[in-house]
Amino acid sequence: MTKRIFSISSIGTAALLAAVVLLATGCGWSLWDNPMTTVRPRSDFGRWTDQIFMLISWTTLVIFIAVEGALLYVCWRFRDRPGAPIPKQIHGHTVLEISWTIAFALVLLIIGIPTIRIIFKTQEAPAATDLRVDVAGKQWWWEFKYPELNVTTANELHLPVGRAVAFYLYAPDVIHSFWIPHLGGKRDVVPHRVNRLTMTPEVPGEYLGQCAEYCGMSHANMRFRVIVHPKDEFDQWVKTQLAPAVEPTEPLAQKGKELFTQSTCVGCHTIAGISGGQIGPNLTHFGSRKSLAANLMANTPANVAKWIENPDHMKPGARMPNLGMTSEQSQAIAAYLLSLK
Ligand code: CUA
Repeated sequence: MTKRIFSISSIGTAALLAAVVLLATGCGWSLWDNPMTTVRPRSDFGRWTDQIFMLISWTTLVIFIAVEGALLYVCWRFRDRPGAPIPKQIHGHTVLEISWTIAFALVLLIIGIPTIRIIFKTQEAPAATDLRVDVAGKQWWWEFKYPELNVTTANELHLPVGRAVAFYLYAPDVIHSFWIPHLGGKRDVVPHRVNRLTMTPEVPGEYLGQCAEYCGMSHANMRFRVIVHPKDEFDQWVKTQLAPAVEPTEPLAQKGKELFTQSTCVGCHTIAGISGGQIGPNLTHFGSRKSLAANLMANTPANVAKWIENPDHMKPGARMPNLGMTSEQSQAIAAYLLSLK
């Protein structure tokens, strides 16, 4: 019987490894251009976190090289050779043991001191000039209130570049975590407590946010979008948000408004001047948003109609009930909501 050089299981392992390498390199994914990357910081907080990450990476690389180098040297130096004497047998070495106890304490200090400093620095009492944003994390969407500007929006956070923002984080239901990889986080959003987070966005652009703490069935669907504007553009956005809800002119949207006001939609949603519900997102300027259902899909008539017809189908566990709307009715309401620019 001939002996197999490669066993079936080793071929299987090699194939699996090759598949993993192909998958990991074939998706065009990289640490730097990923939309959820933390290594391209766009705020002061992001930069500080990145500096700590690089500090930890370099420190651990040095430790890895030192430990593996020592290991390889010892394996080579004391390898089994014919006639070689047995090395001196020892049981413990006081100097060595004290040295590596101190070394590990030093490593913890190198990592711990800057980490704790940044945690405290980003939750200091905000300055009077900071823009205050009250963030409510709810299953499974985000509410953003600007108390000084009298603006309330959902799932799309607009910020001016170069001005410090003080987030006041609060959760009416379960624990969530507020995280914008490019700008900073993750800070817990917990019931019965207000957590703070201060940062200054440094580069205009669009960034993605995500709830980073498991909070129930649609945790992965609890996303948001952050738009950092130049100052003038931000002021313009505030102006449009302060404008009253527009009156629909298209017949389909007018029909939608009638359906909206006659249905239970009004009990959960605010549209300034129309309804005052507080449970779901404020819809006064719903049509000005790019995305729908906590950044789950594009804010198009077809998606909005599908959402109204069966929210749970698009976001499992969604708190918004299926109101039994026909597709004509949901299309009309979608036309009305999207007219609310
Ligand atoms: Cu909210 Cu996970």
